Amino acid sequence: MKLLPALLFCASLLPADNPAAPEQAARGATFFSQSCATCHSLEGKGTAVGPDLTRIARVPPRGILVAIRSTVTQYVFLVKPKDGVAFAGIQPEGQSFWWDLDKLPPEQRPLKPDQIESQQTNTKWKHPPSKSDYSTRQLADVVAYIKWVGYQSRETIDPDSLE
Ligand code: HEC
Repeated sequence: MKLLPALLFCASLLPADNPAAPEQAARGATFFSQSCATCHSLEGKGTAVGPDLTRIARVPPRGILVAIRSTVTQYVFLVKPKDGVAFAGIQPEGQSFWWDLDKLPPEQRPLKPDQIESQQTNTKWKHPPSKSDYSTRQLADVVAYIKWVGYQSRETIDPDSLE
């Protein structure tokens, strides 16, 4: 009859079905919906213009902060349509439209490959947090939120550890 207590103990170690986000992650969620959700989607909220942030959730906090503040882009290009002026664009995988990042909120532009004159390295568009003066504390909160959504991490992110 040692099985039942052992099972109950194990069950107590499992996360509840729908555990509440820790305080810092909850603050980060509010900040995210105000400052990031125009271009990123988490927990089904927001618009997935930029990359899915759950992919980088397991990166160490400082690494995530560097990615947020980075002025170098990987997926954004300077796209010149044959019949128009060049714009900063990002193309979702497997889609035939581009997000026009010169518009805020970004707008979808249907553009087939044969309608594009050139596609060059982006030197113009900067990621919003690289030009906004968000505090390290706000970004620590949002990192905690990304980690919470990504793998239910309850780790508190100390803003001082990010500088
Ligand atoms: C106006 C749109 C926009 C807003 C607002 C925005 N982002 Fe982004 N974000 C992007 C785009 C586009 C990229 C892809 C950049 C590239 O080409 O590497 C990106 C990339 C990222 C990356 C790197 C992801 C990876 O896998 O490399 C992180 C992290 C990130 N954003 C976090 C944030 C956070 C946190 C906020 C809010 C504070 C935010 N972003 C606000 C559009 C946006």
